[in-house]
Amino acid sequence: VPLTNTCRLSTGLRATKNTLMFFLSFSTVAGLDRVTGLYGQTLEIPCNNGAVKTEDILLVKWKYDKGQGQSGDLMVLNKGHDAVVSSTDDYKNRISMAKNFSLLLSGAKLSDQKTFTCMVAVSDITEYPVAVVIHKSPAGVGISDIAEALEIGKLKKLGDCVARDANPAANITWLRNNEPLADGKGISIKSSVLVDPDTGLSTTVSTLEYSALKSDAGAQFTCSTQHPLGEKLVSSPVNFTITYSTEHITLRVSPESPAEGDNVTLTCEADGNPAPTSFNFYIKGEVVKAENANKHTLTHVSRNTTGLYKCSLIDNPLMESSRNITVNYLDINLSPSGKIVKHAGKALNITLQIDSSEKPAVSWTKEGVKLHKEPKFANLTYSDSGVYECEVTLKTLRRKASFHLVVQGAPVIKYLKKMDAKGQQIVLICEAEGSPKPVVSWSINGTVLNETSHPNGKITHKITVTPSADMTVTCTVSNEFGMMTQDLNVSSDPSGKNDKTQMVVGVVVGLLIATLVIGLAYWLYVKKSK
Ligand SMILES: *[C@@H]1O[C@H](CO)[C@@H](O)[C@H](O)[C@H]1NC(C)=O
Ligand SMILES: *[C@@H]1O[C@H](CO)[C@@H](O)[C@H](O)[C@H]1NC(C)=O
Ligand SMILES: *[C@@H]1O[C@H](CO)[C@@H](O)[C@H](O)[C@H]1NC(C)=O
Ligand SMILES: *[C@@H]1O[C@H](CO)[C@@H](O)[C@H](O)[C@H]1NC(C)=O
Ligand SMILES: *[C@@H]1O[C@H](CO)[C@@H](O)[C@H](O)[C@H]1NC(C)=O
Ligand SMILES: *[C@@H]1O[C@H](CO)[C@@H](O)[C@H](O)[C@H]1NC(C)=O
Repeated sequence: VPLTNTCRLSTGLRATKNTLMFFLSFSTVAGLDRVTGLYGQTLEIPCNNGAVKTEDILLVKWKYDKGQGQSGDLMVLNKGHDAVVSSTDDYKNRISMAKNFSLLLSGAKLSDQKTFTCMVAVSDITEYPVAVVIHKSPAGVGISDIAEALEIGKLKKLGDCVARDANPAANITWLRNNEPLADGKGISIKSSVLVDPDTGLSTTVSTLEYSALKSDAGAQFTCSTQHPLGEKLVSSPVNFTITYSTEHITLRVSPESPAEGDNVTLTCEADGNPAPTSFNFYIKGEVVKAENANKHTLTHVSRNTTGLYKCSLIDNPLMESSRNITVNYLDINLSPSGKIVKHAGKALNITLQIDSSEKPAVSWTKEGVKLHKEPKFANLTYSDSGVYECEVTLKTLRRKASFHLVVQGAPVIKYLKKMDAKGQQIVLICEAEGSPKPVVSWSINGTVLNETSHPNGKITHKITVTPSADMTVTCTVSNEFGMMTQDLNVSSDPSGKNDKTQMVVGVVVGLLIATLVIGLAYWLYVKKSK
């Protein structure tokens, strides 16, 4: 039996080696048992899974594989004796043997990851090698080097997740709102492992680069590890302010369509988080910086203010917005103006000059009454007299101008007539036109009933008279420019004409009756005389 390489008997056995050699047969177990222990704890390495028959045992010996075909002695138990530590190295203070021959190893270290072999001598010698693995959960998991803010659409380092001192090296999973994140679009995860040369423990660092979305505002990011023998570890959550650079900038003008004299406020609005707070305004070729303000006011604008205005970000002049501002203006000049006096029958030219930013609306009134078109006077009449006012409007602008037209001239009698009246009285009406207001006089004494003057230069004069005989009545109208008279024949008895007619009819009827009576009498007379 070749014993030398595979089986080394301990010193306690060496004395009897030669005698034993002939009856001890030796076999190795093909399958290698594996025991996993926790770092720093006491590890039990069982001998043949604890299935060793105590009564038949001559000797139990524990040794370990030192590598390069070398082995180190650990403990020996001879039948009838206590187990004895045979190790002289680091193991001597850390090992003991349990009743069931398990090797108990305290303060487990990574360097204990070796093959430990239990050799049992009964009627033959059997070796039970056990591979030892030492696990360690990470000391903790946490996020460090945390970004101050995330930027929308920009891949940016969010932080490092560090799981320290583990064996095997921890696998780190990043989570957003408890949902695992995977490498992919907008997400880049890179891991690295650092092994401590003294302890052999591994520190895993996982770096997450993340391109944020608007919905990431308030999202909680964590990282976690799940160690084979430990519990799941989760880092404290972190959340972020989501920033994005300005995508839209707008220049607003208020009022939108200003008029001369207005104050115009330019407001520059830009999005982004944080939103920009300072802007440049471009005012007629001049750059005006608004620090911590987004407004610029143009006071008391004039038509010269009309032009192109612009605002931009201070740090990015290409992010700009511009607006054309048109200042409305309206100047009018009405000719004639004030009070103008003209003679009837003459022409009067009206000119309304308008200088404006666009076509305005024009309306005319005469004495407060709306006219349907601009007044034109080719042949002035008294009724054209009055106050004319034009109103020109353009948006909020309103201009008014007026003139007072007085048409003068000698009076003209429009008519002279008599009206039906009771008894001996007659009502006479004389109506005339003229300006200034004419004076009316009559050739007959009468009682003035009334005098009505109309605004258009007309005057109506009424009198009652009681004429004593048929006569001619004259109405005279006059003012500083001349006079006019007109005659009317009146009779003393306004109903006399009708009485005469009745009398004539009565005479005719009387004559007819008389003729009939005479004729009848004659006929009777002729008849009788026959
Ligand atoms: C050996 O004994 C120890 C206590 O003495 C016990 O905890 C362990 O489970 C036993 N091992 C086996 C494999 O039976
Ligand atoms: C507008 O500009 C012209 C010359 O460009 C100047 O003569 C005029 O006085 C200005 N008007 C106002 C209201 O500023
Ligand atoms: C301003 O007006 C000019 C000339 O009419 C025109 O070419 C330009 O496009 C306008 N700009 C804006 C922002 O409206
Ligand atoms: C009035 O206008 C007419 C034609 O438009 C012109 O012939 C005439 O001379 C003008 N009269 C006055 C007083 O301006
Ligand atoms: C009108 O009356 C006055 C006095 O009342 C008188 O003197 C005059 O002659 C009268 N005129 C006529 C035309 O009757
Ligand atoms: C009034 O009567 C006179 C004569 O009596 C006559 O000559 C004259 O034409 C008449 N006038 C009118 C307006 O009828």
